[in-house]
Amino acid sequence: MPTSFDNKAASLSAMSEHALAAMLRVAVDASPVCISISDMTSPDAPLIFVNKEFCQTTGYGPHEVIGRNCRFLQGEGTNRDTVSQMRAAIEKREPISVEMMNYRRSGQPFLNRLELAPVFNPALGIDAYVGVQRDITEFRATEATRREREKMEALGRLASGFSHELNNLLQPIMIYGKLLSTSPEVRDAEFTEQMGTIVDCATAAGDVTAKVLRFARSGVASTHPEPISQRLGEAIRMASRLLPAGVSLEVIGLAELERLCTVDSADLLQVFGNLFRNASDAMNGEGRIRVTAFIEGSTLSLSVSDTGPGVPLHVISRLFEPFFSTKPPGQGTGLGLSTAYGIVHGWGGSIAVQNRAGSGAEFILSIPLQQNTEHSEIEPPWHASF
Ligand SMILES: Cc1cc2nc3c(=O)[nH]c(=O)nc-3n(C[C@H](O)[C@H](O)[C@H](O)COP(=O)(O)O)c2cc1C
Ligand SMILES: Nc1ncnc2c1ncn2[C@@H]1O[C@H](COP(=O)(O)OP(=O)(O)O)[C@@H](O)[C@H]1O
Ligand SMILES: [Mg+2]
Repeated sequence: MPTSFDNKAASLSAMSEHALAAMLRVAVDASPVCISISDMTSPDAPLIFVNKEFCQTTGYGPHEVIGRNCRFLQGEGTNRDTVSQMRAAIEKREPISVEMMNYRRSGQPFLNRLELAPVFNPALGIDAYVGVQRDITEFRATEATRREREKMEALGRLASGFSHELNNLLQPIMIYGKLLSTSPEVRDAEFTEQMGTIVDCATAAGDVTAKVLRFARSGVASTHPEPISQRLGEAIRMASRLLPAGVSLEVIGLAELERLCTVDSADLLQVFGNLFRNASDAMNGEGRIRVTAFIEGSTLSLSVSDTGPGVPLHVISRLFEPFFSTKPPGQGTGLGLSTAYGIVHGWGGSIAVQNRAGSGAEFILSIPLQQNTEHSEIEPPWHASF
């Protein structure tokens, strides 16, 4: 005979079953990750449930996705091998975890970390799959930025130690080399010439270490604030003198720059000289370089773009490393962009590269402007050919 206590317990547990189902439903909809369920007993495994976060992330309403196979999220950037792996796992009713490019309703791509697990209970006639999706686009981008920063910091430490050690060894070579080659006791012309070569090589090696040090000392700020427009105009004009006749130069937006910046003219010339030379090399001496300046809030952005072939994707993350060059030996030192990197970071700014939609590379410098300075009237952009 069940006691009244047992009755109460039974009804409580029946109630909690019901309450639990409602609670699960609410919890699944409150979940910060996407949850989806596909019915494996129907042809092509249609979705039978998606939670709110799934709709939020993908941009689709539930009525637009229920009854469809979840592959509608895939597109041209989706790795087909990953899709095959998923298909194989699902056929064997195994769990699987993948990362793949998916697309929202708007067409915007996102990196989807998808975990699938079979939901199987023959007694209850259940044959289904549950999927948990997370949009990890931002997470991966932050991670990549952190890795990139750590790599550059490590390279900076290596470059700094190496350059200092090498400089210490170069000093006596240069000093004694000069002394010996100019010594009044030495009358031998051949000896003097050989000593001269030693001094020239030591000087050239000193230039290399100076460039590497410029990269390593990227945290070091330079000089006093100066009006950027004048300095920039001069630097661009001087850097453009090195360009071959087949390369034209267009400058947009310089007249707008009346603000102050802690940049040094010699450094500016180095940066633009390197960027222009690289652009000209990439275009084989025929094409157009465009410099565009614009201010957003307290940041000055300078874009230097060209009409060359752009930067191959597999080298883009190595471009600013010292000694990284794709040019044949003797033509590239791989120190141009690392020097520019060091200088721009010394200004408290940053330099990045991207390929432009059509073709060509674009280098974007972001430089902090001084606060609390008058910003005079913005004039219309002007175009100039040097
Ligand atoms: C529950 C569940 C959720 C899924 N979620 C996604 C998803 O978010 N994105 C995606 O690209 N594929 C997803 N898939 C995988 C596709 O539905 C499909 O199984 C996959 O594309 C392999 O099959 P196919 O080669 O026939 O397309 C999911 C599958 C299941 C069963
Ligand atoms: N405008 C550009 N277009 C395409 N590739 C470029 C461009 N600028 C630089 N690069 C690539 O970056 C590499 C590194 O440039 P840099 O540091 O100046 O060294 P270097 O010019 O001596 O090779 C180049 O070898 C080239 O592969
Ligand atoms: Mg170069």
